[in-house]
Amino acid sequence: MASRAATPYMACFPKAPRLKARDAMPSLNEIRSTFLNYFAADGHEKVHSAPLVPQNDPTLLFVNAGMVPFKDYFTGAAKPPYPRATSSQKCVRAGGKHNDLDNVGYTARHLTFFEMLGNFSFGDYFKEHAIERAWNLVTRDFDLDPKRLMVTVYIDDDEAAAIWKKVAGFSDDKIVRIAGSDNFWAMGENGPCGPCTEIFWDHGDSVPGGPPGSPDEDGDRFVEIWNNVFMQFEKENDEIVRKLEKPSIDTGMGLERMTTVLQGVHSVYETDLFKTLIAASEDATSTRAEGERKPSHQVIADHLRSSSFLIADGVTPSNEGRGYVLRRIMRRAMRHAHLLGASDPLMHRLVPTLVAEMGAAYPELARAQAFIEDTLKQEEIRFRTTLSKGMALFDTAVQGFRPGDMLDGQTAFTLSDTYGFPLDLTRTRRAAAAFPSTSKASRRRWPSSASARARTGRARARRPTPANGWPCATAWDRPSSPAMTPSRDRARSWP
Ligand code: GLY
Repeated sequence: MASRAATPYMACFPKAPRLKARDAMPSLNEIRSTFLNYFAADGHEKVHSAPLVPQNDPTLLFVNAGMVPFKDYFTGAAKPPYPRATSSQKCVRAGGKHNDLDNVGYTARHLTFFEMLGNFSFGDYFKEHAIERAWNLVTRDFDLDPKRLMVTVYIDDDEAAAIWKKVAGFSDDKIVRIAGSDNFWAMGENGPCGPCTEIFWDHGDSVPGGPPGSPDEDGDRFVEIWNNVFMQFEKENDEIVRKLEKPSIDTGMGLERMTTVLQGVHSVYETDLFKTLIAASEDATSTRAEGERKPSHQVIADHLRSSSFLIADGVTPSNEGRGYVLRRIMRRAMRHAHLLGASDPLMHRLVPTLVAEMGAAYPELARAQAFIEDTLKQEEIRFRTTLSKGMALFDTAVQGFRPGDMLDGQTAFTLSDTYGFPLDLTRTRRAAAAFPSTSKASRRRWPSSASARARTGRARARRPTPANGWPCATAWDRPSSPAMTPSRDRARSWP
């Protein structure tokens, strides 16, 4: 794009190694390094990921966005030691507001653990510099075709729209103006917030879906790859209460999603890292990740990451709070391992592969390897003793089921709460029991609608309700939505 050369920053921009110059497909590890080095060369302090357990926010279950560790720098509550930072932040979304757990394994995009790449300005640069740098990275260093990129801006953000025109040379139809929360990012009910601009990649017309703002936007064709937030306000109890003293920048790029784009695939599970983890799971179970078994291998690969990183950061399985969420994740994976026919504990055997892939970027993972393996193994031994009891209960409950029959709420709750039966597996078993001929289609229906728009920070996953195709008792929702604060009832219930 001609306009790139016209921007004031290009002349002094240091040369960073470009993925473009390489013959081989960039690996996920290389993409992470390219991002961090790019911003380091622009005066950003490289900051190692904070632990998954928030250090500065008791209201948050897990760190779920790159800006969380920097929250106090944005609000002015703490003085930043550097004016600019860049990081690849470990994030978990498996409980509370951003809860993707039940979709994971069945969709192309949902993960419980992911890395969010970000660049941050704490009252230093603002819109123009952020947009220019973002455009430069994606089109120059990542070498994405500008014709397949488009952006959204907040509905009345004329300034951002004008910058995009200047920097990218976009015509109006490539700059979609969106009202409401889609282009106004907030950390939660409390904390810094502001309008944002999102960059979208067009996967091409072989993938169903329309551009952002269109009736078909929920399809998978146009995916958001990067969100740049113009932090300007602070919220309390979901109300904007003040303007930030210094406007700032917070950006979030999902590393795994960017890797799908740069590796030319459509699912995160087809990227190099996940292919390696899935291959390890295939070897360990002597099964192929094909057909009905594919989601199980995908669940195992994803949950191996979230469980291992949570354990490395000091979370251990328990019946309350963070430990309860970890236990649900672990048991969901273990249940899928059982479904694949694994007769002995499986998850701990996959840890060495994970450490080989991610230990260099996250030394804390390598340091905790033995503890992670032991924790996974003990939990899987324990889970297996309750599994057969839960299955017997389930099989009795669904005997004679006909299409449309509903599992009673008490059984559903007991299965989940007492036996740790993951929701999707109970549903799969129920579908198989009640709808032998249509179970496949039934299983597809909910995950695909939920996958429709798993935007960074704002997945609009629908919960299973009678209205969207799953006859469910309301009890389902309780175990699927672990509260931020531990529940006493729950604390007593899991064996
Ligand atoms: N904090 C920006 C994002 O999560 O999209």
